[in-house]
Amino acid sequence: AGPTQEAIDPVRFISNRSSGKMGYALAEAACARGAEVVLVSGPTALPPPTGVEYCPVITAEEMRKAMTSRLAWSDTVIMAAAVADFRPARPSPQKLKKRRGPVTALDLEATDDILRELNERRTHQLLVGFAAETEDLLAHAREKLHAKGVDLLIANDVTAAGSGFGSDSNRVWLFAPEHAPVELPLLPKREVAERILDHMLTVQTGRQTSSRPSRPHRKE
Ligand code: CTP
Repeated sequence: AGPTQEAIDPVRFISNRSSGKMGYALAEAACARGAEVVLVSGPTALPPPTGVEYCPVITAEEMRKAMTSRLAWSDTVIMAAAVADFRPARPSPQKLKKRRGPVTALDLEATDDILRELNERRTHQLLVGFAAETEDLLAHAREKLHAKGVDLLIANDVTAAGSGFGSDSNRVWLFAPEHAPVELPLLPKREVAERILDHMLTVQTGRQTSSRPSRPHRKE
């Protein structure tokens, strides 16, 4: 859940407008249904939901490590995070000083695509992704569903009224391979989370059940 932050220098970073609300609502809803939930989250203003194991991260690379190291003993992975696609290639070890004049170009490099990597490495896990779009939602979502290889893709227009970043509600479309897209009405994010979990159960039908290794003992 949440955004990632990529350092420019020790005091500045590149990030995005993700509040984490959709990912936290999913973690809460799954926990309330009895799932054992690990919430890997970039920096947000939200308190970690009660009952979940909370794993805070800052950068895309930290999120990648947290996700890939837990994949083997997970049954389901939901990537609701707004992961930075680019990061400064050479973050300055010292604060960039104003007197040296404005920074006119930042040298950026691509981050790894976590969802694609999870798809390549997964065995039995159900994989759910999100698509944050601002135009041509249906076309972009279909493309992402195939490019990322997920079992379910939740797409939303992050610029639509009452929807997207920071909002307490969301209006989403659900895309699964071989299925027509399902459009949900504008709903509170917790209700959207419940509908997504319901949908995951139908998508899950027919998949191989878990033969996963045991999860390491949880620290209380
Ligand atoms: N994602 C990821 N790793 C990245 C970027 C995105 O795992 N480095 C995941 C997101 O968590 C989400 C899905 O990929 O589940 C789609 O993210 P989105 O930002 O909509 O798309 P991008 O893959 O970044 O593509 P684009 O920016 O071109 O729309």
